[in-house]
Amino acid sequence: MLRDKNVVLGVTGSIAAYKAADVASKLTQAGAKVDVILTQSAQQFITPLTFRSLTLRPVYADMYDAGSRLAEQHVFLARSADAIVVAPASATSIARLAQGLSDDLLSLTVLATTSPVLVCPAMDSQMFENAATQQNLQILKQRGMTVVGPGVGRLASGHTGAGRLVETEEIAGALRYVLGRGGDLAGQKVVVSAGGTQEPLDPVRYIGNYSSGKMGYALAEAARDRGADTVLVSTPVAMAMPYGVRRVLVRTAAEMREAIISECRDADALIMAAAVADYEPAAAADEKIKHREGALTVELRPTADILSEASGERLIKVGFAAESSGLLANAQAKLAAKGLHLIVANDITTTDAGFGTDDNRVVILHPNGGQEHLPLMPKYDVAWRILDRVAVLLRERS
Ligand code: CTP
Repeated sequence: MLRDKNVVLGVTGSIAAYKAADVASKLTQAGAKVDVILTQSAQQFITPLTFRSLTLRPVYADMYDAGSRLAEQHVFLARSADAIVVAPASATSIARLAQGLSDDLLSLTVLATTSPVLVCPAMDSQMFENAATQQNLQILKQRGMTVVGPGVGRLASGHTGAGRLVETEEIAGALRYVLGRGGDLAGQKVVVSAGGTQEPLDPVRYIGNYSSGKMGYALAEAARDRGADTVLVSTPVAMAMPYGVRRVLVRTAAEMREAIISECRDADALIMAAAVADYEPAAAADEKIKHREGALTVELRPTADILSEASGERLIKVGFAAESSGLLANAQAKLAAKGLHLIVANDITTTDAGFGTDDNRVVILHPNGGQEHLPLMPKYDVAWRILDRVAVLLRERS
């Protein structure tokens, strides 16, 4: 998504400036060409050399440097940028942008660009909460800039409050979100389910499964990166909330069913990556089940099949089939039984793919019997390939 994208990273005078080094590094690792602009005050906190070493590109620190490319064309960075990220954005730099000043290289570049601008505030909570800063941020939002954060937590002043620079992952997610607007899934509502359901046995125990949620989260991120209006119906998993995705947290199969049925009414596609329990305890005990001699028998009853039941006027349905044997035959049977447009089969007996891993090796099956065997690849890439197929189905439908 970020490969070969020209990203201008504007770093301003905030103690969080050191974290911008991580942002520059991660964006560079993701394949972006990162051009860093340091304001005068940022240079009190961190040096151009840090960024030059991380991005392997020139760093712009002086508007009047006759040796720089900007001497020929002072708006060169503004024109070449696919997006501008101001991180950290100090109170002063936010005020400067709100005023529309162009008295330093960063404000000039933001003023001259037509590309998306992300502003990631970082300052003490009292400065952030001040009406002047709030109004300035409001102005930036009204002009179409995306304000990311700040996070809440311990601040350099020792106080706790709003003012922390958000994590690099969130900045990268927001960047992918703004770059993806207008992608091939723009205007489509895509609902993705993720994680394993938890069926309570008593107040402290549940029946669950090993699903990590990684495949579902990768699908939600990829759908967002292609411009979809993305809803992620997820069980509690150890995954960060993807920026720009609406997440509905559920626990049980019954809760997941309710959320999916309601979200699908006006959705264009449903991708069920969640591992949904086929059975739930007939009745969860009100009190913690006590240890006692002999076997314990719990009566289980079947849950509803969400994927079969989900419907919408124009809904494309994609299922997953995690199988330990008879992979293709079982998957094809599920595709037909559940009335799906596609099913994604994966063999859960391999150790390098499937549950909990970062990679997956899948076969995409079509109702006409067509099969696409994909090699082992990161789950995000698998998600991208599935969405390629969904995008074709959506185009055919319209
Ligand atoms: N699924 C669902 N509701 C259920 C069970 C499964 O929506 N109650 C969905 C899963 O999210 C997946 C697909 O159906 O997309 C296939 O799930 P899987 O567990 O492989 O199949 P089952 O139909 O449950 O059959 P079995 O467990 O016998 O293999």
